[in-house]
Amino acid sequence: MLPINPQIEKYIIDHTSEEDPVLAELNRRTHLDTVHPQMLAGKTQGRFLEMISRMIVPENILEIGTFTGYSAICLAKGLKKNGRLYTIEINDELITFAAGFFKKSGMADRIIQFSGDARNIIPSLNIVFDLVFIDAEKSEYFEYYNLVFEKIRHGGWIIADNVLWGEKILDDSVQADAFTRGILYFNELVHKDDRVENVILPIRDGVALIRKK
Ligand SMILES: C[S@@+](CC[C@H](N)C(=O)[O-])C[C@H]1O[C@@H](n2cnc3c(N)ncnc32)[C@H](O)[C@@H]1O
Repeated sequence: MLPINPQIEKYIIDHTSEEDPVLAELNRRTHLDTVHPQMLAGKTQGRFLEMISRMIVPENILEIGTFTGYSAICLAKGLKKNGRLYTIEINDELITFAAGFFKKSGMADRIIQFSGDARNIIPSLNIVFDLVFIDAEKSEYFEYYNLVFEKIRHGGWIIADNVLWGEKILDDSVQADAFTRGILYFNELVHKDDRVENVILPIRDGVALIRKK
């Protein structure tokens, strides 16, 4: 996470719309039942994702990295009527957990779960996406980007999470760990790709908004 003045963070949380009861329960249960609850998007980023999705009104969303399903529910709120969100998770222990909350949220018929490595699953998807949310293994971001790119419509969107990686992107030395190098490589790839335009926002751990021209 990016360092932020705790009072500002509290102010932002206090002045952002409350989570609905299902998201609040999912947030709580993720903290009680999982080892890395900080991976969950949480109240402010979740609301941000929901707002972006509502602005785009996508028919098809792809999420790479379901975890316990928080961001999937937030993004699915903006879907067009009869739209679908496809979400991929490599850790099969999380599939049932997330499915329970998709059901509670009333979105079970609109959220399609895939269990496995996104790098194997993306090539098999014969779908045109309006919005792709990349939030899985940091060292693999460039692979997801390359694999999914042709499946995104022109004028479509990619949102990538953690692109400032707790400020570690400032360390571009050879000692940087694999995750940091992965994020650095991804940010360069996007920045030099003239098929897209992008902006990085300092929300939570850095969020990239990328538009396919
Ligand atoms: C940061 S968490 C996702 C958080 C979730 N999007 C949210 O905000 O609630 C990243 C997830 O990606 C999954 N993951 C890692 N590598 C993956 C891969 N190659 N394919 C699919 N999922 C992967 C991890 O198991 C983990 O649950």
